[in-house]
Amino acid sequence: HANGAKAGKSRNILEKMEETGKNAVVFYGSQTGTAEDYASRLAKEGQSRFGLKTMVADLEDYEYENLDEFPDDKVAFFVLATYGEGEPTDNAVEFYEFIHGDDVSFSSGKAADEKPLSTMKFVAFGLGNNTYEHYNSMVRNVTASLEKLGALKIGDAGEGDDGAGTMEEDFLAWKEPMWTALSEAMGLEEREAVYEPVFEITEEEDMSAQSDEVFLGEPNKNHLEGASKGPYNAHNPFIAPIAESKEIFHVKDRNCLHMEIDISGSNLSYTTGDHIAVWPTNPGKEVDRFLRVTGIDSKRDKVIAVKGLDPTAKVPFPSPTTYEAVVRYHMEICAPVSRQFIATLAPFSPNDSIKEEMTKMGSDKDYFQQKVSNLSVNISQLLEILSNGEAWSKIPFSLFIEGLHKIQPRYYSISSSSMVQKDKISITAVVESVEKPGAPHIVKGVTTNYLLALKQKQHGDPEPDPYGMNYALNGPRNKYDGVHVPVHVRHSNFKLPSDPSKPVIMVGPGTGVAPFRGFIQERAAQAKAGQDVGKTILFFGCRKKAEDFIYEQEWEQYKQDLGDKFEMHVAFSRDGPQKVYVQHKLKESAAEIDKLLQQKAYFYVCGDAANMAREVNTLLAQVIAEQRGVPESKGEEIVKSMRASNQYQEDVWS
Ligand code: FAD
Ligand code: 2AM
Repeated sequence: HANGAKAGKSRNILEKMEETGKNAVVFYGSQTGTAEDYASRLAKEGQSRFGLKTMVADLEDYEYENLDEFPDDKVAFFVLATYGEGEPTDNAVEFYEFIHGDDVSFSSGKAADEKPLSTMKFVAFGLGNNTYEHYNSMVRNVTASLEKLGALKIGDAGEGDDGAGTMEEDFLAWKEPMWTALSEAMGLEEREAVYEPVFEITEEEDMSAQSDEVFLGEPNKNHLEGASKGPYNAHNPFIAPIAESKEIFHVKDRNCLHMEIDISGSNLSYTTGDHIAVWPTNPGKEVDRFLRVTGIDSKRDKVIAVKGLDPTAKVPFPSPTTYEAVVRYHMEICAPVSRQFIATLAPFSPNDSIKEEMTKMGSDKDYFQQKVSNLSVNISQLLEILSNGEAWSKIPFSLFIEGLHKIQPRYYSISSSSMVQKDKISITAVVESVEKPGAPHIVKGVTTNYLLALKQKQHGDPEPDPYGMNYALNGPRNKYDGVHVPVHVRHSNFKLPSDPSKPVIMVGPGTGVAPFRGFIQERAAQAKAGQDVGKTILFFGCRKKAEDFIYEQEWEQYKQDLGDKFEMHVAFSRDGPQKVYVQHKLKESAAEIDKLLQQKAYFYVCGDAANMAREVNTLLAQVIAEQRGVPESKGEEIVKSMRASNQYQEDVWS
């Protein structure tokens, strides 16, 4: 368990609960922070409504071998996200392998068939996405394993569906009957919920924000001291120089960025097909709005020390810091607002009529949809609208730390080949700028607009920042002076065949083409070096040839390098009278595709998970069925087994 081990901290959960007087632990397996957020919400609610003594625990911080000694008067919650192709999240890998493995063994020596977990009560909720094949497999498999080992499940295991966009409502609907079942099982009594802050915020009157000890966005002490060191990972980003950045669309109002991130000297490494995580900064425009509407604008630079009032509460950022730094660098303030958070904020409304409105929004799902979700507003935009600009000064700052997500890095499929440029990582990112019907504001993606601002700064663009986003590119302490961005690398299983002579078929419309640029770059280099490279076919789609046909010249170059080994089929969806998608192009090449698949060609899909990837899967099954003269159901089976053997690989996102 070396991975998550942190020096000096006990990894014994039972000891930790005993020492801190807890009778409930909420474990989470989280990739993007949502499961972690739900875990804290459950812990808080258990405490304030039912008097449970709760703690939240990152699965990678503890050992599991002694769970067979879990006392029967306590309860363990598991909030588990499923990642990608039915995988556990990074922080839950070890736990999953332990509990779901064939040879699970506990320190007391009890065998799996002796029901070693018979004294353990548990509650489970899963976060999944039904557009993926293995929907919520984490929570399903873990629940099955725990029950098999004798643990007693309380209530039903909940399942939230991000694919249908109902995650939050699924969670809210699941938890009421769960609390009822848990109250019965543990003899708990519901009480009038009282808000108890989790964090204590002390304003340090005699400390200046300019002091060397104050964190102004630096992720940890080494960064603060200007001596950041590796290993760089999800807990410790590398502040990377941007070697190059350019716009690759040829159209006004829509942007797509190509960037070269310099990782030389960092000891970071990647292989073709991996992902790079980019740590964003919030736009100044929204930071200012947040500080204004919460009434803390006048003390934005005040130094604050933040500490957990309970020894198990982890402060999600380093301290001492300032209000502004917390809001700018650590809280996801631009995201959609959750209904439960509205309910939590209601008692702190500026006046009774607003309180009534907030309470209604928090408790009535349809009303919330109509008044909040449909507007696509973030928390401060909503508060601003509701109070007509009046400050919400009664909300304790701790409540924001508890209730808003910790800002999350965003992932990008690396669009270069590590064989060709091992010290530079290419990114291909489309800038999110969405006019949602009913929304009073254009919704601007946090990370991609930050990258756009960096590009504009690097190029000294004549009209930077047309939307007044006001990103702080120099940080309060010029921490990112020059053009830098915090990153780390995440390894993936989306890989070229190790034998380059194997044929490959790649389907990647839009920025889904990103990893395939890397794949083709690699195969072109291999061909140039005299290696035998197999057929390399790319299906790409975009709106219009003249606007968003990205890397158009590069593909020509690869054709020169690879000769007739490289074939490209492009679907322009908005150039002709009818929409043409990659699926149409796949169909036109049905015979060739099937022939290559029979020769064990690898088939790759990258990009939109919600529609495109699913439709391509269905179409491929049809193509196979038609070409081989078998029923469609058989075609589907063949695709399934291609997935199982990694002949069919996906790198998709929604
Ligand atoms: P965010 O701020 O995260 O917003 C994203 C979207 O959420 C918005 O467009 C909007 O629809 C919605 N939203 C945000 N705020 C609100 C609100 N207040 N109300 C309502 N809706 C809201 N992208 C690429 O361009 N290229 C890639 O190669 C690539 N590879 C990826 C690989 C993986 C494995 C994954 C998981 C994702 C990948 N993505 C890629 C997507 C990328 O990670 C980001 O999700 C994307 O760039 C948007 O990030 P953002 O911070 O700009 O937007
Ligand atoms: P559209 O926006 O004109 O509908 C990259 O985004 C390309 O993918 C665009 O040409 C887009 O077309 C297309 N696209 C949209 N939905 C798709 C789907 N379900 N399957 C395949 N391509 C799709």
